Amino acid sequence: MNNLITLNNGVRIPAVGFGVFQSAPEETATAVETALKAGYRHIDTAAGYGNEREVGEGIRRSGIDPADVTIETKVWVSDYGFDETLHAFDKSATKLGVSQIDVFILHQPMPQHFERTVQAYRALERLLANGQVRAIGVSNFMPHHLAALRKETTTVPAINQVELHPYFTQSAVQRADADLGIVTQAWSPIGGITFYPGWGENRKSVMEDDTIAGIAASHGKTPAQVMLRWHLQQGRSVIPKSTNPERIAQNIDVLDFELDATDLAAIDGLDRGVRGGPDPDAVDPSTWDVEIPEADTVTSATESS
Ligand code: A2P
Repeated sequence: MNNLITLNNGVRIPAVGFGVFQSAPEETATAVETALKAGYRHIDTAAGYGNEREVGEGIRRSGIDPADVTIETKVWVSDYGFDETLHAFDKSATKLGVSQIDVFILHQPMPQHFERTVQAYRALERLLANGQVRAIGVSNFMPHHLAALRKETTTVPAINQVELHPYFTQSAVQRADADLGIVTQAWSPIGGITFYPGWGENRKSVMEDDTIAGIAASHGKTPAQVMLRWHLQQGRSVIPKSTNPERIAQNIDVLDFELDATDLAAIDGLDRGVRGGPDPDAVDPSTWDVEIPEADTVTSATESS
């Protein structure tokens, strides 16, 4: 039901993962359980989303062996630094209820504090060497961040997770990733991001785009399925988010049709070159007032309700 992508260290992950960004903690366990029962075997979360414990609960409730599920999570910037990031692993693993995390990535570069970013990545390398994680990577890294990281560290990231949808195709990032052998993983793969500071009054969801609607109609598919297929045919991993059971099932049902070269080029041509999310160069620990709680101080939303 899901095809696999091979990372640069040989680890294979399902190309279609399930995203839980902006899934409220009380909805997350149910969404994860629904997704696993619908056939997903890859969940993407982050310490900064505040729902790792509920992801673990959803996996347990599904009855599926956690060893069969690729669990991906991210270190938040307030935990950057060598020892801090080793501790961040302990916090995330405990909340998720696992001893090994499949894919552990840095959530953002911290351009103003790049040395702490490098130290955090060195901690990921240590965790990889120890067998505590199976693959390491980054998120929201632009080509110059990748180049700077490569100068200071030895392990090429396996994944770079970035905002990527038909209105923001990030061709320079995709090229840099490909040159280094990094899998590009799309967050907001169907353009569902909820803040569009650069788009002003002209903002319009890519889900309402006429070109995509036309391609979807010609294949008897939905716009979301066409966008996900576009990613997969171009070799990207995707992590669509939904809390709706029908849309959860729809987003993994994308393997029984093929976009042709004209379809792919038409979608590539929609790029506006304007991101919906934050500019990675502007991110700083003070950008968001988020501290990641210790594992023993976090109460599950589902346990407390
Ligand atoms: P919902 O959770 O109500 O389904 P992205 O992952 O690109 O950020 O998109 C997530 C957003 O898109 C969420 O608001 C989600 O809402 C919505 N969404 C997810 N799947 C679909 C779909 N198949 N069709 C339309 N909207 C979708």
